[in-house]
Amino acid sequence: LLRQLMDVMRIEGGNPLSGTIPVSGAKNAALPIFAATLLSEETCVLKNVPNLSDIRFMAEILEHLGAEVEQTDPTTWKITARNISHRAPYDLVRKMRASVCLMGPLAGRLKKAEISMPGGCVIGPRPIDMHLKGFAGLGMKVKVDKGYIFLDAEHACGNPIFLGGRHGSTVTGTANVLMAAVLTPGKTVIECAACEPEVVDLCKMLVSMGAQIEGIGSPTLAIRGVDKLGGCTYTILPDRIEAGTFLIAGAMAGEKLTVTNLRVADQGALIDKLKEAGVPLTINSESSITVSKSSEPLKPVDVVTHPHPGFPTDIQAQMSTLMSVTPGISIVTEKIFPNRFMHVPELLRMGADIAIEGPNAIVKGQPKLSGAPVMASDLRASAALILAGLVAEGTTWVLRIYHLDRGYDKIDEKLRAVGAVIDRLPEKDMPKDLNPESA
Ligand code: EPU
Repeated sequence: LLRQLMDVMRIEGGNPLSGTIPVSGAKNAALPIFAATLLSEETCVLKNVPNLSDIRFMAEILEHLGAEVEQTDPTTWKITARNISHRAPYDLVRKMRASVCLMGPLAGRLKKAEISMPGGCVIGPRPIDMHLKGFAGLGMKVKVDKGYIFLDAEHACGNPIFLGGRHGSTVTGTANVLMAAVLTPGKTVIECAACEPEVVDLCKMLVSMGAQIEGIGSPTLAIRGVDKLGGCTYTILPDRIEAGTFLIAGAMAGEKLTVTNLRVADQGALIDKLKEAGVPLTINSESSITVSKSSEPLKPVDVVTHPHPGFPTDIQAQMSTLMSVTPGISIVTEKIFPNRFMHVPELLRMGADIAIEGPNAIVKGQPKLSGAPVMASDLRASAALILAGLVAEGTTWVLRIYHLDRGYDKIDEKLRAVGAVIDRLPEKDMPKDLNPESA
């Protein structure tokens, strides 16, 4: 891990991408699904799990809580949570925000939970008030004290719960309340539930364990609590954000790049914008799309992020990179995390012209970007910098790539296999005069 912390990514821009690039399992489905294994004392076998540091963190936390966790092959994990503790301490939870979704399963199964309150992160303050409102709605006693959340679910029962907030629905909030509700007596109805494919995947996994859930994929989830859940064997859906990142890579540098193992049905908003911009794109099947760099200049497009099925916030930074080399002015509006523009100052260092006005980025497309040392700040910002490096003139060095390792399964290997000139090396091998951190 220490070695990875100190790695940098070096990219030589201007090399065309061609061939087939496969998509791994979805991080944001796998994380709550791992947490959901706590709901049963029987074994859950999870397949198509991406190889990510966030997954390893989650596995470590589950082990700490008492589960038996085994990675039986690179993409398969076997988890048995026979005897588990209800307490997730700060030193484990602070490593990863998604550990917040342990609350629901612990409270559902053990009728109590004690979890360190997650912090904010670079993309914004990330409150969890709606999660707590949901738990209170289920009749739990909810207390926040000394940085911990205490849930007492001894007298919890099903109820109608409205989970909409100022930015729409909440993905992990819906997952959390849902996971508590499946083992809570009575009927819970979650209104304004998140409809993200990752929430649907979690619902399907829970149903395969014996949960009773109606309205899956809709904003109204009706859950009938059961006494016990069994084990399952479940295959995690493809990562639509990784897929979207590769589709944009193809639009920027593709000679004929085929992205496979994706679900076309989950890419509607992105496909629509890529077509509007004039990106040559062919849907080969339900799970494969071929995309190329247009021989004509692309057209600028305006993009507004929304909850699913709108344009995903997790693909906003990558789309902004594409627009930064598309002639004309594009306006990118971030409605989910209005401060999520950490990629912008780094793209400016590479020659992009982007102005931020509140939740809007005004992107003036430039004829070219030029390689530079840049700093990754969060997962999707890092991906945006890798994309920029693929088309920039000269060499781009991306520092702090541990952000990338949290959510992209071997992105360097996958891109190299389709023609990118990209490698990972220890930060100490980077020329000192280029490294802003070596001062
Ligand atoms: N919000 C509240 N109160 C809450 C919960 C959320 O005000 O109690 C607000 C948030 O601040 C935000 C909006 O509601 O403005 C939506 O947040 P949501 O809860 O849906 O986000 P999340 O569940 O914390 C997940 C993904 C994010 C992704 C968002 C939006 C996981 C582990 N994380 O976060 O993924 O950006 O949904 O789709 O599923 C990433 O993968 O890089 C990433 C950040």
